[in-house]
Amino acid sequence: MKIAIPKETKEKENRVALTPDVVKSLIAAGFECIVEKGAGLNSYFSDDMYINSGATLIPDAKTLYGQGDVVVKVNVPNASEIAMMKADAILLSFMWAATNPELVAALAEKGISSFSVDAIPRISRAQKMDALSSQSNLAGYKTVIMAADTIGKIFPLMMTAAGTIKPVKVVIMGAGVAGLQAVATAKRLGAIVEVSDIRPETKEQVESLGGKFIELKGDDSIKTEGGYVKAVSEEFLKKQQELLFKHITDADIVITTALIPGKKAPVLVTEDMVKNMKFGSVIVDMAVEQGGNCPLSELNKTVVKHGVTIIGEANLPSLLPMNASELYAKNIQAFLLHLATKDGFKWEMNEEITKGSLITHKGQIVHPSLAKPVMA
Ligand code: NAI
Repeated sequence: MKIAIPKETKEKENRVALTPDVVKSLIAAGFECIVEKGAGLNSYFSDDMYINSGATLIPDAKTLYGQGDVVVKVNVPNASEIAMMKADAILLSFMWAATNPELVAALAEKGISSFSVDAIPRISRAQKMDALSSQSNLAGYKTVIMAADTIGKIFPLMMTAAGTIKPVKVVIMGAGVAGLQAVATAKRLGAIVEVSDIRPETKEQVESLGGKFIELKGDDSIKTEGGYVKAVSEEFLKKQQELLFKHITDADIVITTALIPGKKAPVLVTEDMVKNMKFGSVIVDMAVEQGGNCPLSELNKTVVKHGVTIIGEANLPSLLPMNASELYAKNIQAFLLHLATKDGFKWEMNEEITKGSLITHKGQIVHPSLAKPVMA
């Protein structure tokens, strides 16, 4: 089987789906790898590194897509990339299928079997394939580094002959994978860290990293499932905003990572709070692509509002492309070796990881969350 590694074409994307190291081990496992010229350059993996790993370099996207039995990507292919793929090719990529219906329909129409890495069930045996976690973890780290680089202050307590510098106070909203890495990173740099989440089990995780958990009494409107918040009422969010007002307006840095899968992100930092924050404070809104935890953040922009710098970078892992590609490539390798051997795909249609991540197959949209019910 020929695995094709194209250059990503989405704007501001620096990652590549497979690194030279992973290419080498897939070739050792009996696969063939073809790489588009320059595919790894933005992640600092040169063409020579791929050639030395045993891959064949292909000069252009059209030839590459035309030859790939399996196409591995970071971002869902666009319409012209789908058009270049072989009719019976297999795709492994982030797809966000629910929000990309036209591309999913185009893949099905072309007969491409597509697996979405964001749909892999988050079960223990799939942890090594969990690209959501590998990328969120790096994104959480980067939020703190960006805030540290933007704020006109240092993080730790520092006693000098000229006076004592107080440590910065960082408030982190949402203690999922990204939020917990942000806690760890801010603590390592010497900040005082406070955290809010509405899943009570996160208290212990925050405290084990040295963060202070902001206690918040939940109500019946909070629905959780499998470690995710599924729903929360507007009334509860109002209560949460009131309780958090003082914490947020006292902070030097606010990092927001709160998401509700499939829904608009909850508003946690209101314009009124921003107006009352200290002049020169910084907000990093990781939820900006889902509408933002702060209504003043702007997608892929850094703006200054009411004296507060608000960073709304959507693709944070792409800003750490070496590590992000290394971890993503390992995730893809584990996923591929779960689904296939060098001789072909296993198509174990009732197996949990296959069933959870297969989006299109044999000309149909097959994922249970997307497939149209068959009329009687
Ligand atoms: P996410 O990115 O969907 O959400 C981030 C965080 O925002 C969550 O912790 C959520 O509780 C929080 N949040 C939602 N509404 C909020 C509000 N109003 N105020 C404050 N916080 C709010 O979640 P992520 O990071 O993808 O993972 C969440 C959980 O999924 C993990 O903590 C874990 O339990 C589970 N998980 C399981 C894995 C496995 O078993 N293999 C792997 C990774 C995650």
